[in-house]
Amino acid sequence: MNAVFPGSFDPVTSGHMDVLTRASRIFDHVTVTVMHNARKQGHHLFSLEERLEILREATGHLPSVSVDSFSGLLVDYMRQQQKGIIIRGLRAVSDYEYELQIAHLNRQIGEVETVFIMAATRWSFVSSTMVKEIASYGGNISEMVPRASAAALRRKFAEQYAEREVGLKSPSGEG
Ligand code: PNS
Repeated sequence: MNAVFPGSFDPVTSGHMDVLTRASRIFDHVTVTVMHNARKQGHHLFSLEERLEILREATGHLPSVSVDSFSGLLVDYMRQQQKGIIIRGLRAVSDYEYELQIAHLNRQIGEVETVFIMAATRWSFVSSTMVKEIASYGGNISEMVPRASAAALRRKFAEQYAEREVGLKSPSGEG
């Protein structure tokens, strides 16, 4: 059976990768699809093309995974592409209420089933939003994201990383 793992992926995190890897062991094929989240409108750090590029690099080692994008309703995408199941990751109970609502709505408007996959506990506190915040101050995010995301974040926040490195070498900020 085929599945779709939809999300904003701005950028893809180690938590997403964990869910995706688990899903790829269960389903014949998984498409990671970058979708538009109306709640995050205007808050994206990476363009759609950048997010796709990062995802392509991060998933290159998974033969049964492909990367796609769609702008519109997820249920329309599922119907058009004749995909079977929606996969969503759950980190903690706090994710559940929101995810339950979306899953019920997608079943009501499109008769599509959602399967939840629990991310490993070590990723419970990792989100794209937090990773971007840490990176924006030049902090170390290398454990929390795949290498492709870390490199893209370093490029985006090159100035902050350079400044922080200088600051760490010389706590007084001199020389
Ligand atoms: O990674 P995210 O931001 O939690 O993913 C949410 C996403 C993009 C899967 C969700 O917003 C979505 O499905 N957007 C497409 C539009 C849609 O179908 N909306 C109805 C369900 S909320």
